[in-house]
Amino acid sequence: MRTVGLVYDLRDDYLALGFSDEQTAEFDKRETINQITEALSGLGYAVEPIGHGRRLAAALSNGQRWDLVFSIAEGVRGRSREAQVPALCELFDQAYVFSDPLTMAVTLDKAMAKRIVRDCGIATAPFVVLESGSETLADWNHYPAFVKPLAEGTGKGCELASLVDNEAELRAAAMSLILRFGQPALVEAYLPGREFTVGIIGNGAHAHVIGTMEILLNADAEPGVYSYTNKEEWERLVTYRRADDEEAGRAADCALAAYRALGCHDAARLDLRSDRTGTPVFLEANPIAGLNMTHSDLPMLAAQNGITYADLLAMIVTAAVERYEITDRGFADLRASA
Ligand SMILES: Nc1ncnc2c1ncn2[C@@H]1O[C@H](COP(=O)(O)OP(=O)(O)OP(=O)(O)O)[C@@H](O)[C@H]1O
Ligand SMILES: [Mg+2]
Repeated sequence: MRTVGLVYDLRDDYLALGFSDEQTAEFDKRETINQITEALSGLGYAVEPIGHGRRLAAALSNGQRWDLVFSIAEGVRGRSREAQVPALCELFDQAYVFSDPLTMAVTLDKAMAKRIVRDCGIATAPFVVLESGSETLADWNHYPAFVKPLAEGTGKGCELASLVDNEAELRAAAMSLILRFGQPALVEAYLPGREFTVGIIGNGAHAHVIGTMEILLNADAEPGVYSYTNKEEWERLVTYRRADDEEAGRAADCALAAYRALGCHDAARLDLRSDRTGTPVFLEANPIAGLNMTHSDLPMLAAQNGITYADLLAMIVTAAVERYEITDRGFADLRASA
C-alpha cells in the first residue's frame, strides 16, 4: 500500500513545546487533519500522522520515508517558515506535495512575490516596503493606500486601520503593524474593485484554474477589506459567489500567469482585487491553501464547481504524483529498483 506522511501544525503540539496561546492561535484544527486523512485514505493511501516539521525532521533522520509527504504546516518563525518542510524533504530525498522551498519563501514575502509577478508583466498594485515606518515617502503618491504585514496570512493585520488616506495615517498604520508583527510593513495602492480568489491545480502545461470565487462583504462586515475578523466570522459577514463573468475570467488568467511566474507546484489559491478601472490585479499567492472542508476558500470554490473535497485532494495528489512521475508501483519501489 502506498504511504503518505501527513505534516501539520497542530496547536497542542506547539503548546507542549512551550509556545504561547497567541503564537499558536491559528494553527491547524484537528478537524482539518481528520478531513485530509479521510480523503487520502479514500484514495488508497495509508496515512501516517507525523505532526510538525521538527517531528518530520526526526523521522527523516531516523531513515523513515513515505511515498509522499503531504504538508499543510506553515511553520512558526521567519519569512521562510513555509519553506522549511519542503526544504527538509529535499534534503532527505523525500517526495512531497505542493511548492518547493523557493516558491514557498518568495510567496510568503508578498513584496518578493510582487516583484517577480511584475517582472513577468502581470498587473500588481504599486508598493513600497517600510522597515521602520520613518523612511522617506517622497515618491509615494498613491492614496488611498493599504498597509499590511509583509509576510503574514489569514488576514492578520489586514483591517480597517490598514486603509489610509494620507502620509500621517500611513506612517501610523505601518509603525503599529511593524511593532505588532515584528516585521516590515507592505504599503500598496488600495484596490477598490471586486475581490476574487482563484483555485489552480497542476503543473506546467497541465496547470489550470478549477474555479474563481468572488468575495462579497455583507452589510455588517468590516468594510472594504476581507479582514481577519471577516474571515473568522465568514458565515455571518461574507458571501461567496462563483464568478464566471468577463472580469472574473481576466482574474483567472492573471492568477494562472502568476502561478506560473512564481513556479507554484500542484495547487495554490491566488488572491486578486480589481483596480478602479475593473482590471484584476495580483495581491498574493497561497501555495499552502487552507484545506478545511467547509471553512477554507479552496474547498469552497472547488465545491462551487462540482469538485468534491475528495476529488480536490485526489487532483492535488495526482498532480504531485505526475510531477514525480510516480507510477502505481509507488515512489519507494521506483527508488528501490533504481
Ligand atoms: N492593496 C490592497 N487593496 C485593497 N484591498 C487589499 C489590498 N491588499 C489587501 N487587501 C485586502 O486585505 C485582504 C487580505 O490581504 P492579503 O490577501 O494580502 O492577506 P493574507 O492575510 O495573506 O490573506 P490569506 O488569508 O489569503 O492568506 C484581501 O483579501 C483584501 O480584501
Ligand atoms: Mg489573501
